[in-house]
Amino acid sequence: MYVCVCNAYRDTEIRAVAQAGVRCARKAYQELGNGPQCGRCLTFAQGLIDGVHEDRPHGSPVAPIRKRAVGEGAHP
Ligand code: FES
Repeated sequence: MYVCVCNAYRDTEIRAVAQAGVRCARKAYQELGNGPQCGRCLTFAQGLIDGVHEDRPHGSPVAPIRKRAVGEGAHP
């Protein structure tokens, strides 16, 4: 779906830039080619970006590493 009418940016493009590490909507737009024009879409775009990063604090791995408890996963 189109998020930004001025630049014709889609949600998939904005999420892809966020997955590459961008956390700011304005920066995401610059990465896609043009900065924001009217700015009406920025709050929604930022929500998409925040959704990509909500489970990934800065510098953390993509998925948390879970250590096994003693005996867990052992075959009987
Ligand atoms: S709708 Fe995105 S900058 Fe205008």
